[in-house]
Amino acid sequence: MVKSPVNLDAVYSNNVGTFQKIANTVLPVKYPSKFFEEQFDDKANTTVFAQLGYFGEVAVGGVRAELIASKNGGVQSAGVYIQILAVLEAYRSKGLGTALLNYIEEQTKSHYQHKIFVHVAVDNQEALEWYQRKDFRIEGDVLPNYYKETSGSPDAYVLLKKV
Ligand SMILES: CC(C)(COP(=O)(O)OP(=O)(O)OC[C@H]1O[C@@H](n2cnc3c(N)ncnc32)[C@H](O)[C@@H]1OP(=O)(O)O)[C@@H](O)C(=O)NCCC(=O)NCCS
Repeated sequence: MVKSPVNLDAVYSNNVGTFQKIANTVLPVKYPSKFFEEQFDDKANTTVFAQLGYFGEVAVGGVRAELIASKNGGVQSAGVYIQILAVLEAYRSKGLGTALLNYIEEQTKSHYQHKIFVHVAVDNQEALEWYQRKDFRIEGDVLPNYYKETSGSPDAYVLLKKV
């Protein structure tokens, strides 16, 4: 059997800079270092799922999602929210995005959650179509001015997948 060149591994403090670089190269929204370091902050009180995607030895993609706390303060979380899913352009269509999304789906199920949410800018046709092929559906109306500092459209759709 031929070994797939696509592999995932955890985000550690010594490679989180690579993750930040990939996210800020691919996405029109820029995330500060503080956002990435929060993952290692025990006091942040969030459950973060993050992986880097490798093609061979090279990190070329990454995903980060978190458990959404229930609004009414109950113990039951409301689902999992994908904050970042990004693959460098030159390495797309090789199955990395699918592998990263599969990881989030596995984490969602193993944390007894049934909903995965993601925001996608209204002008990001490629991602909107990709998520819909992965059984995400647009929820509700466009959120105007969702993205504050972006080089793309500030308006976003919420997409939801039930697992
Ligand atoms: C959306 C995104 C993450 C998809 O990443 P990707 O690595 O290209 O995704 P995949 O390779 O798994 O899937 C793309 C297509 O490649 C093809 N593909 C999948 N696995 C493949 C493989 N092993 N070999 C060859 N082609 C493959 C398929 O046609 C697939 O389409 P489908 O599975 O939807 O039918 C990527 O386009 C991206 O980073 N976009 C910019 C960032 C962004 O907009 N993120 C969303 C907001 S968070």
